[in-house]
Amino acid sequence: MNLLAIVGSPRKGGATYLLVGKAIEGAKSKSRECITKKINLIDYDIKFCKNCLVCRDSKTKDPVAKCSIRDDMDYLTNDILAADSLVFGTPVHMGFATAMMMAFLERICWTFAKPERKILTISGCPLPRSDKKRKAVIIVTSGVVPPIYEKFCNEATPLIKDTIKCSLNAKTIGDMFAGDIEHRGTEHYFGKAFNLGKKLSEPYC
Ligand SMILES: Cc1cc2nc3c(=O)[nH]c(=O)nc-3n(C[C@H](O)[C@H](O)[C@H](O)COP(=O)(O)O)c2cc1C
Repeated sequence: MNLLAIVGSPRKGGATYLLVGKAIEGAKSKSRECITKKINLIDYDIKFCKNCLVCRDSKTKDPVAKCSIRDDMDYLTNDILAADSLVFGTPVHMGFATAMMMAFLERICWTFAKPERKILTISGCPLPRSDKKRKAVIIVTSGVVPPIYEKFCNEATPLIKDTIKCSLNAKTIGDMFAGDIEHRGTEHYFGKAFNLGKKLSEPYC
C-alpha cells in the first residue's frame, strides 16, 4: 500500500496533524508493506488556481493534465499519482475546509479530471482521468462544535468526499469528525483515528 496523508491545518503538531498521524499508525499496524508520506500543506508553495482552464480542456490521455502554474504542486502531483490510499485531514474554519486545503483541492479538481461525467455533482461534472482506484479516509477537527451538531457545522467532509471521488477516483471508506477539541482534547479521538487508518489496510471493495 502506498499511503499519502495530506494535512490542511496551519498548525503542525495541532489536532489534525496528530489525528492524521494516528490514522497512519493504524494503517501501518495492519499492513507491513505500507509506504507512507505525510504532507503538511503549510510547508508547500501552492498557488491559487487561476481558472485558465488549460487543464480542464486538455485532451491528454495521461492520468493528469498539465497545470499552467509552476509551483510545489509539480512534486505533489507525483505523490498523488503514486498513492493508492489517502488520508485527508483538515480543521473546520468557519464550518468549511481551510483555505489551504481548498487551494489544494482546486488545483487537483481539473488536472486529475476531465469534464465528461454525465451526472452533476457538487463540483460540476468531473470524471477521473485515470481508472486507478483509490481509497480514502477523511478526518475533520473542530474547536468548539460538538459531534452532535456536525451535520450543520461541517461542510468540509462532503466537499472533500465529492472532489476526491470525481478527480482522484477515490472512494471514501470512512470519515470522522473530532468535534469540540478545545474541551474534549485531541487524545479523546486517538482510538477512533487509529481504527479509521486500519480500515485503509483492509481489502478494497
Ligand atoms: C479562522 C478559523 C475559523 C474557525 N472556525 C471554526 C468553526 O467554524 N467551528 C469550530 O468548532 N471551530 C472553528 N475553529 C477552530 C478550529 O477548528 C480548531 O481550533 C481546530 O481543532 C484546529 O485544528 P488544528 O489544531 O489541527 O489546527 C476555527 C479556527 C480558525 C482559526
